Formats: sequence, C-alpha cells, structure tokens
Amino acid sequence: MLLGGYIPVTRNMEKEWIQAAEESLKKRSEFHFAIEKLPEAGMIGSCALSDVDWLSRNCLLGIAIYAKKDWGQGLGFEALELLIDFGWSHLNLQRIELGVHSHNPRAKHVYEKLGFKHYGTAHGKYFINGEYIDTDLMELHRE
Ligand SMILES: CC(C)(COP(=O)(O)OP(=O)(O)OC[C@H]1O[C@@H](n2cnc3c(N)ncnc32)[C@H](O)[C@@H]1OP(=O)(O)O)[C@@H](O)C(=O)NCCC(=O)NCCS
Repeated sequence: MLLGGYIPVTRNMEKEWIQAAEESLKKRSEFHFAIEKLPEAGMIGSCALSDVDWLSRNCLLGIAIYAKKDWGQGLGFEALELLIDFGWSHLNLQRIELGVHSHNPRAKHVYEKLGFKHYGTAHGKYFINGEYIDTDLMELHRE
C-alpha cells in the first residue's frame, strides 16, 4: 500500500519480476539490491535505482523494508545512503528522484534527512483502498 496500489500477484509473477530485474541489470537500466540485517542471514528488504537515463544522468529511487518489525532501526537510512553513494560514485549520476505517498511521513522524513527536496505533487496519482492518494515528488542533486 505504501508503494502503489494493491493488486494480488502470484508466485510466478514474482519470479517473472525477478527475471525482469535481471534483464534490466544486463541492460544497465536498473540496479536492484537486497537489504540484509547483519549478522542475521536473509533478505529483509530491497532498494533500487531504476529508469536510468544515461544521457541526462538521472534515475528513480525506490526502497521497501518488508516487515514492520524491521522498521525504525536505521536500516532504511543506511541502505539509502549506500544506494545514493553507489549512484554518484559508480554510476556517475547527477540527479535522483522519487515519488512518495503524501501519507507516508516516515519515508518522507528519511528522504529529507538524506537531502531530498520536495519539488511538486502528483495529485491523486494512485487509487488505493478506495481513495485517490497524492504523491510527493522529491529530488536530490549530486552537489
Ligand atoms: C520508509 C522506510 C524505507 C524507512 O526505513 P526505516 O529503516 O524504517 O527508517 P529509519 O529507521 O532509517 O529512519 C526512520 C526515521 O523516521 C522517523 N519517523 C518514524 N515515524 C515517523 C513519522 N510518523 N513521522 C515522521 N518521522 C517518523 C524516525 O524518527 C526516524 O528518524 P530519525 O532517524 O531522524 O530519528 C521503511 O520504513 C519502509 O520500507 N517502509 C515501507 C515501504 C515504504 O514506505 N517505502 C518507501 C516508499 S516511497
């Protein structure tokens, strides 16, 4: 619900999504990372830079830590710091943007702490749980 509308997916659709992510990696248009909470083994979330525009050196950022019990421990902030550094230092990007539901204050706080600035609102972009939700658009420049 915090990422988009809710539409059920099957296990096969999940597999296809992972295969599509692998294809995007080959094409160098998306870079997906697993988030792990060390020293425990296992993936607790994922984050990605996607829609990379190599001419303008722009991309989209996304993150999800799946279980609420893993929220609020600094993991999201740390994962995003590493992801953004990867964008600047390894991909030579100059701008990263994202969309966040206006009713997701936790995520907005983390993005602001990382330096993202609000630059607009997509009004009623998503239909979720019976209502249209605004999406805050945020951007971060390398400098
Ligand atoms: C958003 C998300 C990535 C943040 O990761 P996290 O590990 O929970 O975040 P952190 O622990 O690093 O930081 C949380 C911060 O939010 C603050 N916070 C928590 N609830 C808040 C609220 N209701 N309003 C404002 N700030 C809030 C905390 O105080 C903390 O800030 P601080 O470090 O300055 O004290 C994670 O919660 C998540 O995956 N949520 C579900 C999916 C999602 O919303 N993805 C983003 C879609 S755009």
